Amino acid sequence: MIAFRLNGSEVALDAPPIRRLADALREDLGLTATKIGCNAGDCGACTVLLDGKQVCACIVALGQVGGRDIVTAEGLATGGILSDLQESFLRHGAAQCGICTPGMLMAAASLLRHNPRPGPEDVEDALGGVLCRCTGYRKIVEAVLAVGSGRQAISPLSGAAVGASIAKLDGAAKLTGAEKFGADSYPADSLWLRAVRSPHASATFAFGSFDELKRRHPGLAFVLTAADVPNNAYGVYPNIKDQPVLAESHVRYRGEAVMALVGDQAAIEAIAEEDLPIQWHPREPVLAIEASLASGAPVLHRLCPDNVLARGFLKKGDTATGFAEARATASGRFETPFVEHAYLEPEAGYARRVGERIEIFASTQTPYMDRDEVALILGMDASRIRIVPSACGGGFGGKLDLSVQPLIALAAWKSDRPVRWTYTRPESMQATTKRHPARIEARFACDGAGKLTAVEFAGDFITGAYASWGPTVANRVPVHATGPYAVPHVVVSTRAIYTNDPPSGAFRGFGVPQAAIAHETLMDDLAEQMGMDPLEFRHRNAIRVGDATASGQRLVASAGLAQCLDSLRPHWRRAQTAADAANRQAGISRRGVGIGCMWYGIGNTSMSNPAAMQVGLGRDGGLTLYNGAVDIGQGSNTIMAQICADALGVPVSAIGIVMGDTDRTLDAGKTSASRQAFISGNAAKAAGEDLRAKLLRLANVGEGAILELAAGEVILRESGRATSVDLTRMEPLGPEGDVLIGQGYFDPPTTPLDAEGQGIPYATYGFAAQMAEVEVDVELGRVKVRRIVAAHDVGRAINPQQVEGQIHGGIAQGLGLALMEEYLPGRSENLHDYLIPTVGDVPEIEIVIVEDGEPLGPYGAKGIGEPALIPTAPAILGAIRHATGIRLTRVPATPDRVLAALQRKAAE
Ligand code: FES
Ligand code: FES
Repeated sequence: MIAFRLNGSEVALDAPPIRRLADALREDLGLTATKIGCNAGDCGACTVLLDGKQVCACIVALGQVGGRDIVTAEGLATGGILSDLQESFLRHGAAQCGICTPGMLMAAASLLRHNPRPGPEDVEDALGGVLCRCTGYRKIVEAVLAVGSGRQAISPLSGAAVGASIAKLDGAAKLTGAEKFGADSYPADSLWLRAVRSPHASATFAFGSFDELKRRHPGLAFVLTAADVPNNAYGVYPNIKDQPVLAESHVRYRGEAVMALVGDQAAIEAIAEEDLPIQWHPREPVLAIEASLASGAPVLHRLCPDNVLARGFLKKGDTATGFAEARATASGRFETPFVEHAYLEPEAGYARRVGERIEIFASTQTPYMDRDEVALILGMDASRIRIVPSACGGGFGGKLDLSVQPLIALAAWKSDRPVRWTYTRPESMQATTKRHPARIEARFACDGAGKLTAVEFAGDFITGAYASWGPTVANRVPVHATGPYAVPHVVVSTRAIYTNDPPSGAFRGFGVPQAAIAHETLMDDLAEQMGMDPLEFRHRNAIRVGDATASGQRLVASAGLAQCLDSLRPHWRRAQTAADAANRQAGISRRGVGIGCMWYGIGNTSMSNPAAMQVGLGRDGGLTLYNGAVDIGQGSNTIMAQICADALGVPVSAIGIVMGDTDRTLDAGKTSASRQAFISGNAAKAAGEDLRAKLLRLANVGEGAILELAAGEVILRESGRATSVDLTRMEPLGPEGDVLIGQGYFDPPTTPLDAEGQGIPYATYGFAAQMAEVEVDVELGRVKVRRIVAAHDVGRAINPQQVEGQIHGGIAQGLGLALMEEYLPGRSENLHDYLIPTVGDVPEIEIVIVEDGEPLGPYGAKGIGEPALIPTAPAILGAIRHATGIRLTRVPATPDRVLAALQRKAAE
């Protein structure tokens, strides 16, 4: 027995002394606030206090804690009241997805115990070992600095929720550890699943007999192979089902699953790879664009004999004319790598059989797609599959694809036992999708007045072993390839190319961040050639209301790039003056300022992508928003309630939320493409308006009536008269027991693109301009980002604090793309070798929210998820160029690449 003090109580555990403390807390004691993001001491998600000091519980052995004092996030709140630290996190919007939050809280608590009044550097030092992929850290630092400065007071009245920075409605559970992520909740009698994955990028394989394996490992209940999967092919497109759940005879990438072991967790984890009866026969993999396109190259998929999965094309005007009219022309070739999502929550969940149905509790961004795909794989009707999304510890596009779902469902169906599975960190990094590596060649031209005349753009994107979202990238990039500028003559072609790499998928931007690096570098080139200021050159070319896009769509409203640039202008001038002054000093440090612009079509490209919502009124007067839009940390639970509350005319605090459960909510579509605020927000608004209209009719009162919810009734006040609608006598309308239901639906108006990419691909676009200030150490090649000013046209900020949080987080990811992130299959499959920005890497950020209202948007809103990231890398690259004169065309701009470029420049 190992005895210790835990959150103020004595506990004793009968467990091996080498058991990891994190496992003991979670599995043996049920304290799941302590998260496991890596199990290797790299991420800090498991941070707890040991005798008052922060430690990573995943690398502390139980034997080390005997007689000592441990505090976890569950021990911070007392009597249901949040501690001052938790309260400050809530008030500052410091928790987004919440998976890092307990670790952050414990790191901060450790600091505050020893230093109750820390400065910013103290906080950054204390939090330096805990990674966050969502927030960009700034609000976390603010929250720690502001501990004790007051409690949350904002609770908007009826009609005042939209535009208010209210705290997340589901925020408290993220701070206490009560929120259940994919690995946090499972039936006690669950079996465990482990996938066996290919160590080779390309290989054939064969299984021997499993009898010996089963005999030697009695805890192994059964093995699943491709032969057990009823329909062993899936994919996000209805017409492209190219990915097997378990590979059949050959694998196409390192990390592809070939079999699943199901049974007692300890028993199946103890099975050594050498004990598995698999014979591998490696083949020469296809690992680059040239190799894949070469004549005679191995064909990855029979249906694509040239290894080109998808092509995109757009043509407007006549580029020959455009280039002939040009005064200046700039061209370049740009390369970007695989980028890992690195959400801190690895894929996780459990499935159980309920009669003739399967229920899956798992981390996802898209419950309805999961339902339909799992149904297809199991050969069942979709009505027999229920998806209950867990809290999602970060997605960024990576949890739009299936992960644990099909195999746990299959195993649970087969065994009639619940089956759970959590990916290890290396497994998550090996097996799941990445940002598409890109190779882009582009040419931009402008006339003597500095107006763009022509753009040519050819982009190849590695889609890896399977399609995933490759066609989406191939189709979205052409529309965006010019950048947010008016260009009369454009030709764009794109390809998504198969290789023996991990599948590339959706990652915050669907190819647009890669394209932005190209177009913004070329805009700087042209400005330089024309002797124009980079900001003013962009301002001159900014696409505006009345202009036609490259796809021939005339913008009719809400195109706020010029306003974004206007708002940056004073910062730009100040920063340039400061950089010039600093650079007058001799030394190894050079300062620079750069600018990046972007636009982003909100929602899916040229296709119907509707959302449906319901809001129900119970007999007791309680309101519930049945919200199918999964909140992956961006805050849609809160903003949907804000929108619905104002549409209905009630305080937002009156609205309860049911999120994402396919049995209880309608399909609101995927949480992707920055679509939830605009599309699902419109559906939430329509649902609120519908319920309000029903109540007004029942009470026979006019539009302006004021609603008041009470126990068992709704009181409607108008011109001093009160009318009561008695809910207690009404019949329930469905299984939820609601007696009145408001329905809302919205599908953005788009048209298909023709063969030349002409049409209306999106109903509206987000716009942004960001400015970066950097310092480059010219001896070491190291780049430090000192400050970013970000101006974003979001139409309307439903919740300004959450908009800021998205921008902070997007900037952190954009900074990683620019300076440090490069996923190398087989080499950077953990958070030790794959670096993401820490609190010390993210600079001071100033945000300007531009609200050029979108008439089609709910209260004018558009979206912010992806726009937040896209301009950051170009702005940083522009700043490096301003500081040093080097023009980088390949990211990340690691010190060795910066140094090499500096040396090349010196040799010129
Ligand atoms: S889970 Fe312990 S440091 Fe990552
Ligand atoms: S809030 Fe930090 S990882 Fe999501």
